[in-house]
Amino acid sequence: MTVHFIGAGPGAPDLLTLRGRDLIAACPVCLYAGSLVPAEILRYCPADARIIDTAPLDLDRIEAEFVAAHQAGQDVARLHSGDLSVWSALGEQLRRLRKHNIPYSITPGVPSFAAAAAALGQELTLPEVAQSLVLTRSGGRASAMPAGEELAAFARTGATLALHLSIHNLGRLVAELTPLLGADCPVAIVYRASWPDQRILRGMLGDILAQAEAAPMERTALILVGRVLAAEDFRDSALYDPDYHRRYR
Ligand SMILES: C[S@@+](CC[C@H](N)C(=O)[O-])C[C@H]1O[C@@H](n2cnc3c(N)ncnc32)[C@H](O)[C@@H]1O
Repeated sequence: MTVHFIGAGPGAPDLLTLRGRDLIAACPVCLYAGSLVPAEILRYCPADARIIDTAPLDLDRIEAEFVAAHQAGQDVARLHSGDLSVWSALGEQLRRLRKHNIPYSITPGVPSFAAAAAALGQELTLPEVAQSLVLTRSGGRASAMPAGEELAAFARTGATLALHLSIHNLGRLVAELTPLLGADCPVAIVYRASWPDQRILRGMLGDILAQAEAAPMERTALILVGRVLAAEDFRDSALYDPDYHRRYR
């Protein structure tokens, strides 16, 4: 018996990986994070599967489901949105499984920042503009930001910022970033990337707040900030230079 953690992707059901789909189809128990995982994905579950939305459950009850499935010898598909490596509560669930010696596997998923970049039609790193992408969030009720991870510190690097779990703090973020990056720094907000009701706002630190207030978005939105979002005058990368060694092409 194994608990298979599966990144369910950003929303569009066909952005689930083939491995994820096949594991879901093979598991008699499915636990899914109901507020973000698309319900269409559940159609891959066996017809008689036990399917549980974990949104109303606390960690103890989720652990109890794992233990019960383990005792019954039933594999579990555990679905979280996007990829599992960021903000998925994977770490604390793995710790509980290790406590019970319950085996697990991890199948990655398409993260929301990648779906947002695709929706924008953009690369988030460009030669000599930004070569780093910071996946971060603003501090919230569930998680305070550790010392040293202040947004200002990341912003000063000039890296592209991908701000998760932060749309409710947009005003505070704009106020903090504007003196550091300038009111003309490009911003994009992608709401529910890859879902049918996906929406995109593009602007600058100086005007994005007014735009967002005119078209409010709740929760499932990613805020991207950085010069790459409006850069056209960047140099080509060395990758396709005729003199470049082709090993990385
Ligand atoms: C609990 S975190 C989950 C992140 C997820 N593990 C990932 O790989 O992207 C939820 C946050 O991710 C972002 N997010 C998740 N899905 C999204 C989507 N389809 N479009 C835009 N942002 C999304 C939002 O910032 C949301 O507040």
